[in-house]
Amino acid sequence: MKTITLTRPDDWHIHVRNGAVLKTVLPHTARQFARAIIMPNLKPPVTTVAQALVYREEILQAIPDGMDFTPLMTLYLTAATSTEEIKKAAECSFVHAVKLYPAGATTNSDAGVGNIPAIYPLLAALERYGLPLLVHGEVTDEGCDIFDRERVFIERHLSDIAKNFPALRIVLEHVTTSEAVQFVESANTNIAATITPQHLLFNRNALLAGGIRPHHYCLPILKREQHRLALVAAATSGNPKFFLGTDSAPHLTALKETACGCAGCFSAPAALELYAEAFEKVGALDKLEGFASFYGADFYRLPRNSGSVTLAKSEWQIPAVCGEDDVAITPLKAGETLSWKLL
Ligand code: NCD
Ligand code: ZN
Repeated sequence: MKTITLTRPDDWHIHVRNGAVLKTVLPHTARQFARAIIMPNLKPPVTTVAQALVYREEILQAIPDGMDFTPLMTLYLTAATSTEEIKKAAECSFVHAVKLYPAGATTNSDAGVGNIPAIYPLLAALERYGLPLLVHGEVTDEGCDIFDRERVFIERHLSDIAKNFPALRIVLEHVTTSEAVQFVESANTNIAATITPQHLLFNRNALLAGGIRPHHYCLPILKREQHRLALVAAATSGNPKFFLGTDSAPHLTALKETACGCAGCFSAPAALELYAEAFEKVGALDKLEGFASFYGADFYRLPRNSGSVTLAKSEWQIPAVCGEDDVAITPLKAGETLSWKLL
């Protein structure tokens, strides 16, 4: 059987929620990844170090016995965040970044930032204390077409942030456009990006052509094929600015298959295998280890993992649903057959 072995990978952007959903989804990630950057968009959001430590404990409790997994915590930036809290976060070994959600951009982002220039003192504090800023890069104004929101965010906000804070480490999360790829490529080495499996595998036809597919709906939304091709080229280029972040974002099936469905793809049950498919399609499996296991750790200034995982060329079916009845969650590509399997 054909196999590939990689240094244990990490997921540099994931939503694991809390309560019963956390217990359902976390084992999938802990099985595949050594560490993950945990998004703070709970209800209410994780805005302080004290809250992050409580959330971390809840995550640790949800790790199945015998699995070795480390959650890397983040804080949710708001207009009310203080520079003292940022200093505290930088001094806390469990907190690894701060997340900027433009208010209203995505799931649980109501408490996000409305006026970005107004939080420049906080960005200055992040730069000073060496804590990375993670950015959901989309504008939120009704007047901006949803397919343009990432490009416009870069033009209107991110370029200025990068100019004003050249030493600030920034991850432009879940990039979806060729413009984002170009921005990151041409920026200084403090600016990197994560890429999700769905944006490598699908364009917007997978969401809208031949029927509307709510499980392919996430934010930023899937774009045209030309953008997908730019993302695949970036992910498989060996450029250390691009690394793995699934953005696995579980929502109950009932909240996705409805008149106004939630944004988010639950990719955790087959995350690494989905990336392997995307890399194999362009003959770039040799580039998977850097993307999945090295570049993110290097960017976050954490040691690379020891140990390894092996993927085998072996068909298996993604389950139709994960979780018990009241926490039923439909995975990305539910019921479909994948050709790589994590052993
Ligand atoms: C995420 C979620 O559900 O929390 N949804 C998504 O579509 N990606 C939020 C986010 O990362 O935008
Ligand atoms: Zn996300």
